[in-house]
Amino acid sequence: MSHHQLPERWATKLGVILAVAGSAVGLGNFLRFPTMVAQNGGGAFLIPYFCALLLIGLPLMWMEWTFGRYGGLFGRHTLPGIYDVVAKGRRWVKYLGVLGLFVPFIIVVYYTYVESWMLGYSIFSALGHFSRITETAGFGDFLGSYLGAKDGQPMSVPTWAALFLLITLLANFYVIWRGVSRGIEKLTRIAMPLLFIFAVILVIRVLMLPNAFEGLAFLWKPDFSRLGDVKVWLAAAGQIFFTLSLGLGAIIAYSSYLGPKDDVAKSGLSATAMNEGAEVLLGGSLAIPAAVAIFGIVQTTQIAQGSPVALAVITMPAIFTKIPLGELFSTLWFLLLFIAGITSSVSLLQPLVAFLQDELGWTRRQAALTLLLVTAAYLVPVVLWQQFFIDDMDFWSNNILLPLGALIEVLIFAFIFGIHRGWDELKRGAEMHVPVIFKYILLVVTPLYLVVLLGVWAVQEGWAKLTLQGIEAAHHPYIIASRVVMGVIFLAMVLLLRVAWQRQRAGKVPRPTPHPDHADIPCGMS
Ligand code: TRP
Repeated sequence: MSHHQLPERWATKLGVILAVAGSAVGLGNFLRFPTMVAQNGGGAFLIPYFCALLLIGLPLMWMEWTFGRYGGLFGRHTLPGIYDVVAKGRRWVKYLGVLGLFVPFIIVVYYTYVESWMLGYSIFSALGHFSRITETAGFGDFLGSYLGAKDGQPMSVPTWAALFLLITLLANFYVIWRGVSRGIEKLTRIAMPLLFIFAVILVIRVLMLPNAFEGLAFLWKPDFSRLGDVKVWLAAAGQIFFTLSLGLGAIIAYSSYLGPKDDVAKSGLSATAMNEGAEVLLGGSLAIPAAVAIFGIVQTTQIAQGSPVALAVITMPAIFTKIPLGELFSTLWFLLLFIAGITSSVSLLQPLVAFLQDELGWTRRQAALTLLLVTAAYLVPVVLWQQFFIDDMDFWSNNILLPLGALIEVLIFAFIFGIHRGWDELKRGAEMHVPVIFKYILLVVTPLYLVVLLGVWAVQEGWAKLTLQGIEAAHHPYIIASRVVMGVIFLAMVLLLRVAWQRQRAGKVPRPTPHPDHADIPCGMS
């Protein structure tokens, strides 16, 4: 395949919706969401949660679908490419798109590693390995040996753990190598129904536990007094944002392979609805209720304060050893998480591959291979010094750069592309009526909400992180090393953008002529 062929497209309407839902439904739905509910007022949390869905989530989702489809008309599938189209000669605008390369790359590196644990754990469950562990503490020890934890550094990762990582990495890149419709679309058409079936089986099993009702009552018992706390509202906004995969150009990359008249309003809404169903109904009936049913309220309260990853790999397998056919359910649980993971990680890779294709004129296969090598190289330090690297990478990318990226997107959409034009673009080909109130929400409320979210996180947590507060002095060099690596990658990406623009100005990058269907679209470059 080369750029001389027809531009890539999704083969079916359902395919792209499933792909976007696949990106959105991830570990966040099954682990982060129930933990958030338990910590922030139980059932009452749904009030700020659905407010954030209407005021940030859905408007941004529609905006990203609209922006993406628009960029695709010009053969651009990435944030820098799309910003270039709408920049109207302002050169700095397209450089803001660097976040659409940097953030997905940082996330995909540690995300595929965590994803590979789920693969490893599903295989150990299937082999009956976990039925031999009798105490919850045993699962903590198992995790330690999986990660290769030992007193001195670096980690000594066992060969089999490295092998699971390699398999996960190759699987991801194989999908990307095959392309949008033959790779990603095929994967999600199989993966999403499976994910749904596994989740439903697990929910039914959990609800059949003798104390299941107590578990649901614990998680969902509303504590309305918590609604007076600003932090609860911010947590809800953060969760919405994270669970819908917004702010880093992943959704944009997917929607940029639509045709000019494909519906973005209904598709965006459908993908959002699928994610919310998976999150509230399925995610809200699994891990925490099961923990209450097996371990009781006191212990679960502690578990809910801990890390969502520990909930997945320590608490859940311990629960499964206590029920009949536990190995089977434990295998399904880890397969569920692995599938949720891989459909998300391919959506992080797609914008990167598309950048090398669109902006540097590479073929998809060259792009995929190069990216595989670069990702693998970065994974070496990330795996060896994971106890320092992963949390730091996660914090900066998710808590700071995601809302920042979304804020930049919405400002460019409203003020550079133009909110009226953007709105008309959203309605083009829409089969559903989109209430006009969302236009003003997108113009005023969404950016303000994001500014507050970002401001509070930056001031409350960002400063402490930046100055390494609460971190042992002996660990400082590792954290600093991690940030230097990130800084170098960031600068390298800015340089890459520069090279790309220079080569394009010199006419060295073939720009695909718009697809014939696009002929009726007025050119956005003026
Ligand atoms: N939405 C994913 C989840 O719920 C996590 C995520 C956030 C993500 N941003 C993303 C996944 C971007 C893919 C791409 O777990």
